[in-house]
Amino acid sequence: MTVRPPIQPMQDTARDKSRGIGWSMQAQSELSEEDFSSWRRLLEDRTGIHLVPQQKAFLQSQLTIRTRELGNITFDQYFHSLHEGLAGVVEWSTLIDRLVIKETSFFRHQPSFDFVRNYVNQRIADGQLADSFDVWSVGCATGEEPYTLAMIVNECFEASALDNYWGVTGMDISMPAQTFARQGIYSKRKLDMVPPHMRERYFSDYDQLRTQISAEMRERVCFTNGNVIELKKMPMVKMDIISCNNMLIYFRRWRRRKILNCLAERLKKGGVLIIGLGEIVDWEHPLLEPVADDSVQAYVCVR
Ligand SMILES: C[S@@+](CC[C@H](N)C(=O)[O-])C[C@H]1O[C@@H](n2cnc3c(N)ncnc32)[C@H](O)[C@@H]1O
Repeated sequence: MTVRPPIQPMQDTARDKSRGIGWSMQAQSELSEEDFSSWRRLLEDRTGIHLVPQQKAFLQSQLTIRTRELGNITFDQYFHSLHEGLAGVVEWSTLIDRLVIKETSFFRHQPSFDFVRNYVNQRIADGQLADSFDVWSVGCATGEEPYTLAMIVNECFEASALDNYWGVTGMDISMPAQTFARQGIYSKRKLDMVPPHMRERYFSDYDQLRTQISAEMRERVCFTNGNVIELKKMPMVKMDIISCNNMLIYFRRWRRRKILNCLAERLKKGGVLIIGLGEIVDWEHPLLEPVADDSVQAYVCVR
């Protein structure tokens, strides 16, 4: 890839051309195989996400949109701009948000959440709780998963009249996803899977089409920006529940194992790691024992 001069602010005429009719009539730039390899490498080195050849068209279209927004700079110029100081860091964050798949929903995999409810109730019944009960949702997208966990844990604690501290942390690489999650405002259609009594209790109308999760739940859930391939930098330790769903599928198998090994070390004894069903096979860890339930993929920390 050739080194290009830094990006110059575009002239008004260029900006005008990059919008409206001119925009839609412009041909999409072609991403060469060589350049596709460079972009794949960059993405994988920085995030762990492994693009397959079939995703070239997706990458190309996202790069086309973004480079047009920046005044029709070339892919090459854009690539180099991502390596340039603070501006490069900020632009990288914008690009990542465009490239990650943030699909999610409340109660996405019902058996996993049934498991969580039983698990929390069992821990309470066994009198095994420490002063604080900490839950971590890794790759939490727009917040539906951490809020689902919060509603369940809240119900368990309330039913047992315990007043131990508990909290949920949602972590994701996408900053806009976290901003969205913090506000907790969702389309009403997203509540389809939420049991009626929970809709009643935890959500209220925001406007005609949208609903907002209660302030009570927003106070219990905090959102942080984080990259799962840099787990060693994160302060989360002695977690009671770690939930990591539908994210590992974007990584190569060796990296999934490495991430899971790191997550295993972040559990407290008796804590549980829950991942998406089938996201890894043949993985074992000396601290963990798999849960004997075919409807979920979960591991208890036994040492
Ligand atoms: C498909 S969503 C899954 C959301 C939720 N866990 C669920 O199961 O519904 C995957 C999320 O993983 C996040 N992600 C991808 N790579 C990541 C990384 N390296 N570090 C942290 N989050 C990442 C994406 O931004 C996206 O929000």
